[in-house]
Amino acid sequence: IKPSVCVVGSINMDLIVTTKAMPKQGETVLGDDFFTYPGGKGANQAVAAARIGSNVNFIGAVGDDPFGKTLLEHLESESINIDGVATVSSAATGIANIILSENDNRIIVASGANLLVTPELVEHNLDQIKHSDVVLLQLEVPMETVLYTLKAASTYNIPVIVNPAPYQPLPDGLLEKASYLTPNELEVESIKNDPLFEGIHEKVIVTQGDQGVQFFEGGVKKHVPSYPVDVEDTTGAGDTFNGVFATELARGSAVGEAIQLANAASALSVTKVGAQGGMPTKEDVEKFLLERKISE
Ligand code: RIB
Ligand code: NA
Repeated sequence: IKPSVCVVGSINMDLIVTTKAMPKQGETVLGDDFFTYPGGKGANQAVAAARIGSNVNFIGAVGDDPFGKTLLEHLESESINIDGVATVSSAATGIANIILSENDNRIIVASGANLLVTPELVEHNLDQIKHSDVVLLQLEVPMETVLYTLKAASTYNIPVIVNPAPYQPLPDGLLEKASYLTPNELEVESIKNDPLFEGIHEKVIVTQGDQGVQFFEGGVKKHVPSYPVDVEDTTGAGDTFNGVFATELARGSAVGEAIQLANAASALSVTKVGAQGGMPTKEDVEKFLLERKISE
């Protein structure tokens, strides 16, 4: 029986321009290629979870427009249940403007319909929360929705992973109610300033890109190194980590084990362009780990 993960989060169309040089202020540069790829931290994490073996229920919103239609069809093609996704007429589907150069990526999100992922929408789909093994959240939908979902899940004793991205000041109650927080190395610097941080560091798993993952277990600081891979695009590496970590926890794996697998999966994801490009299946990850063992 498959583990069940509910994602309450964002859906974006990623508009990607690749370029050798980043434009400076007031400057125009000629870039290379343009791609549109499905994205949004919520949708990316949902796809990562589905590919690695979860039954995924998604609660979110798109606009009544061509991007929205394409993105919903895409989620369905990944076997994600989109009964909880609203199509709204008062806002456009979210987009992310991504500039991708050899050693940098910069993203601006126009949230659009993602801001209409309301507590009411979650309440309306409460059954999906109730019947999940793990709930997964990011900060691309309104904070009041994040808090509402956390409270709802905690009344049913369902563990919630909060990926605090993009970083915003965390409201009262979030740190206490979350089971795990998964900031990257930049986000954790902001979180450390939170007066509540001292008491909760056991919940914090820090993804550090090519520096691996850091977490605490039984009061001991642990570090999982990253895998050296040929990096094409790091966009969505954190999303892959979260979707896989959530799935492994939902399967009942120990935290350390879940982190190991999620770390390997995100290494695979950065070898392909696009946030969801390169997100592996369980077999892909197992094969990758086996090959690494053999070559050790
Ligand atoms: O985490 C990567 C994602 O952030 C992109 O897919 C983009 O849509 C933004 O939401
Ligand atoms: Na990728």
